[in-house]
Amino acid sequence: MSGNDLARTMEFPPAIEQPNIFPLGWETRTQKLEEIWSAAQRELWDPAKLPWGTFQPDRYTWEQREAIAYWWSLLSVFDASAPPVFAAALIKTYEAHEEDPVRRCFFSITRDEQNHEQMCGLAITRLLGSPSPLAHTPRTELGRRAQRNVRWLYHNGARYWNGYRKAVPKYSLAVLFSSFLMGEIAAATIFHQMAAASAEPVFKEGFRNIGRDEGRHMAICLSLIERDYPGLGAADKEIVTKQIRAGYLFLSAVLFEPPAEFWDLPADFIAVQRECEEVARQARFGIPTYDAKKQNWRNAILNLKGVLDRYGTPFPAIPEVEITGKEILQIDADEIIPVF
Ligand SMILES: [Fe+2]
Ligand SMILES: [Fe+2]
Repeated sequence: MSGNDLARTMEFPPAIEQPNIFPLGWETRTQKLEEIWSAAQRELWDPAKLPWGTFQPDRYTWEQREAIAYWWSLLSVFDASAPPVFAAALIKTYEAHEEDPVRRCFFSITRDEQNHEQMCGLAITRLLGSPSPLAHTPRTELGRRAQRNVRWLYHNGARYWNGYRKAVPKYSLAVLFSSFLMGEIAAATIFHQMAAASAEPVFKEGFRNIGRDEGRHMAICLSLIERDYPGLGAADKEIVTKQIRAGYLFLSAVLFEPPAEFWDLPADFIAVQRECEEVARQARFGIPTYDAKKQNWRNAILNLKGVLDRYGTPFPAIPEVEITGKEILQIDADEIIPVF
């Protein structure tokens, strides 16, 4: 008998094997997520509709253009991986038969990250006159070294995709949220700072929108942590502690400076990045200084620590920004979940 004949022999179909990709129901348990979802609907923006007409790249020198494009390329190593990362998490919310607003909120994050990726693409394409920082022929000495940096960033960023794909089915959403939250907390702050410090209207507005999106992403993760962490088991807590340390290592590349513990980079990498950042700052592109970044990153981590402390989840030591905690010796690159 083929599967298509069941209906002739049974009054009702057999129970559906789980996990099944989708639930048939629209339950709301976490009211806060409904509010965040309506904000996401209200605040939706289109990167293509920013005032690009006011942006004239030829007002900048080629060195400035390549330095600013370098920063956007650095960001896109994170933001171009975010749509597939959150799309995978979105599928997981359906498989897990999550309540309806959780599914919608993850859909909104996926959509927002797609916008952030587009913003990177629009900026880079205009700055370099090329749709990829790798395809562009550098015009200056700094531009040449910046492109080498981008190649190494891309190499490193690509390394963790396989680890992520293995991690998603293995961990509960509750564990995944903690990794997401790490990126969102820091991102929300840095983009607001960049909006305030940038002169170019199109970048100012783009950063303001991205910062607002990241604030919502942070609120989504916080609501879910509030919902799920009171019941979190000891084994899950241990993974969360490790993931926070992994998140620190991974995200430091864009929010602070890349630690050698995770990032495989040439010896002059940081010097080249600092030089690009200085040229970009001179062109009134608002990258925070080393000290401001460190402060921002430390505050974000302390915020996260405050959240995890509330639920009795041990925090890892992050001596790089003077935070003490549980010593995490080995981070398996294979098991890294962090995202932006
Ligand atoms: Fe983003
Ligand atoms: Fe985000």
